[in-house]
Amino acid sequence: MANTGFTIWFTGLSGAGKSTLAEVIERRLKDQGRNVEILDGDIVRTHLSKGLGFSREDRDTNIKRIAFVCSLLTRNGVVCISAAIAPYREAREWARREIGDFVEVYLKCPIEVCRQRDVKGLYKLVDEGKIKNFTGVDDPYEEPENPELVIETDKESVGESVSRIFAKLVELGYLEGEGNSEDEAKVVTERLAALGYL
Ligand code: ADX
Repeated sequence: MANTGFTIWFTGLSGAGKSTLAEVIERRLKDQGRNVEILDGDIVRTHLSKGLGFSREDRDTNIKRIAFVCSLLTRNGVVCISAAIAPYREAREWARREIGDFVEVYLKCPIEVCRQRDVKGLYKLVDEGKIKNFTGVDDPYEEPENPELVIETDKESVGESVSRIFAKLVELGYLEGEGNSEDEAKVVTERLAALGYL
C-alpha cells in the first residue's frame, strides 16, 4: 500500500499537550519509516509567521500559513502534525478544506490544569498582567464541534493518548493496524483454500 499523506491537526489551549504528543507521535511514525513534519505554533512564529501577533487576524493568518504548508506536504505523502492553538473554528475548517486528509484532534484540558502545568511560565505572566489577550483567559477559544478525536489530557497518560490517536488513524485507513497484514493474509489463504485453489 502506498503511503498516503495526512495531517494530524491538534487544537487546544497553551499547555494542553500539543507539542508533547506531536513529538511522541513523530518518533513513532519515523520508526515506522514515515516522513513526518511537525508545524509547531511557537516554532512557526519564529520564521514563517515572524512578526505576527495574537489578534484574530494575525492568528488566522498564522493558521492559514500552517495549513498551506501542511497541504503541500500532505499531498506528497508526508505526515504533518500541526501543533498550534488554532482557536478559531472558521480557520480550522478552512484548514480542513485546504488539506483534505485532515484528522482534527482536540486536546481538551481545563485551563486550571494548563495553568498549574505552566510549562513555559506564561500563565504566571498573564496573572501578573504582563501578557494580554491570552487564549482561554481573556481571548477566545472555540471548541471543535466535530473533531475526529477528543483527548482529555488531564485524565489520560501520554501513552494512552498516543494509542488512541494511532487507533483512530488505523480506523480512518491512514495507517495499517499492527498485525493487520498477517490477519489479512490468513483470511485470503482460508478463502482460497475453501475455494479449492490451495
Ligand atoms: S495561534 O492562536 O496562532 O494558533 P500559536 O499556537 O501559533 O497560536 O501560538 C501560541 C503560543 O504563543 C503559545 O503556546 C504561547 O507560547 C505563545 N503566546 C504568546 N502570547 C500568547 C497569547 N496572547 N495567546 C496565546 N498564546 C500566546
